[in-house]
Amino acid sequence: MKFFVDTAEIDAIAELNDLGMVDGVTTNPSLIMKSGRDILEVTKEICELVDGPVSAEVVAMDSDAMIAEGRKLAEIAENITVKVPLTWDGLKACKVLSGEGKMVNVTLCFSANQALLAAKAGATFISPFIGRLDDMALDGLELIDDIRTVYDNYGFETEILAASIRSVNHVLECARIGADVMTAPPNVIKALASHPLTDKGLAAFMADWEKTGQKIL
Ligand code: G3P
Repeated sequence: MKFFVDTAEIDAIAELNDLGMVDGVTTNPSLIMKSGRDILEVTKEICELVDGPVSAEVVAMDSDAMIAEGRKLAEIAENITVKVPLTWDGLKACKVLSGEGKMVNVTLCFSANQALLAAKAGATFISPFIGRLDDMALDGLELIDDIRTVYDNYGFETEILAASIRSVNHVLECARIGADVMTAPPNVIKALASHPLTDKGLAAFMADWEKTGQKIL
């Protein structure tokens, strides 16, 4: 499963990227707002830092304007993925932009039927939002599973980019189901390394090592 990092914070992306943990980046208008940066500038910096796909989201509501914004965003770098919302206009923009050879990420997906439409419109990635379904007492992971089944039934090549990931358990379950990609905030990716038994075991090793009085260096 590929790891995308869901942030527009350069330092956080760089730290994970240095460890080889970043296969791509996703941003959205809320993340750009949080960064306090200009969208074109910060997206260019991210694209220079990371080799993989970098999603930058259009903000227009009608397809013609989305297409124009998508073309402008795609000029930033070769690894830009134009992100469009899963609306009828977004699907029209997806069809046109993917037809021009641009990578397109269709976002705000909350049903397998929506994911089916995005695949038929030529999406490179579909972004189903797990956490926001869980917030409504629905089952976000079930949606990932449903989309996996539907795409596999017909051999769609659109990659399932599991988004709105809030916990390490979401990451594990996405990997079990077979999501192609998961995008998570930096703190969730870093939390994957933590386990209380690792901390406990390390403390015991250090206590015993202290008793030996030895040094390695
Ligand atoms: O990739 C989409 C993600 O940013 C949404 O996450 O936690 O705001 O639902 P969240």
